[in-house]
Amino acid sequence: MEFEKQLEVYREKINAELERTMDEYTPKGLIVSDAMRYSLLAGGKRVRPVLALAVCDALDGDMDIALHFGCALEMIHTYSLIHDDLPCMDDDTLRRGRATCHVKFGEAYALLAGDALLTMAFEYITKNVRDSAKAFLYIKKLSYCAGISGMVGGQTDDIKAESERISLDALRSVHRRKTGALIDAAGCAGAIAAGRDENIAAEYTKSLGIAFQIKDDILDVEGDAATLGKTPMKDEKNDKSTFVTLLGIDEAKKELESETKKAIEAAEAFGEKGEFLKNLAEALLKRND
Ligand code: IPE
Ligand code: IPE
Ligand code: MG
Ligand code: MG
Ligand code: MG
Repeated sequence: MEFEKQLEVYREKINAELERTMDEYTPKGLIVSDAMRYSLLAGGKRVRPVLALAVCDALDGDMDIALHFGCALEMIHTYSLIHDDLPCMDDDTLRRGRATCHVKFGEAYALLAGDALLTMAFEYITKNVRDSAKAFLYIKKLSYCAGISGMVGGQTDDIKAESERISLDALRSVHRRKTGALIDAAGCAGAIAAGRDENIAAEYTKSLGIAFQIKDDILDVEGDAATLGKTPMKDEKNDKSTFVTLLGIDEAKKELESETKKAIEAAEAFGEKGEFLKNLAEALLKRND
């Protein structure tokens, strides 16, 4: 199947499963339920669950399990965005083309919606993945990647680096954790669903994760609100350390190309079945949102 079509097939599966899950899991009549649905079902590129499905597909694995792992990961990713947007963090008012969760529902409910999405991810895996050995392996991986050694740790250092000029190595380490860790978790989702070594896609996701955040830094400078679905020029306003502030826009673009090339080369390991992963890396390089 051609790349764009396959991408759409994956996204439709993911969106249908997320809709179904929210109907099943969120009690009606609670503001926090509305806040969770509002943020999770607001669109978004679904890059992480797509990656989980694509890696699993390339390995001829169990696509149902990959879908469940990927959707759990998307819940955690969405929680990270809700909290990232809070006034005490990046203080953003626009996300996925709509008012941020705390602008719409207030800070307390946004905080709780994030908490609930985080815990729901694990409950959802235990209820939907019958292969308990695979479920255990993925819960172990996902909790590690989302926590202090991964996304939360990276977010901590991202905040700490505001108003400082940190080294390029230190910035790479921030990006590896705040964004890279959940991209790694996506690759592991596909690998574990296929019963393979969880690190089989690690070389690919390592470069893809860095490339993804470099592109995010570039879009913050070059994008517009209507296309991005978020407010541009926020990194400068928050005095963030980014690839653009450290290297300038031209060098940042070179780094983006170099990391994308590394990801594409790493996808060679999957042979013909790695074609979608190569196309995905290329599409994420060229994305406008
Ligand atoms: C935004 O992630 C935050 C980063 C980690 C760069 P995405 O660009 O994947 O956001 P959505 O899910 O498409 O909204
Ligand atoms: C966020 O990075 C990474 C997360 C863990 C949420 P950014 O702060 O650059 O993401 P955006 O630009 O707000 O989406
Ligand atoms: Mg941030
Ligand atoms: Mg932010
Ligand atoms: Mg950003």
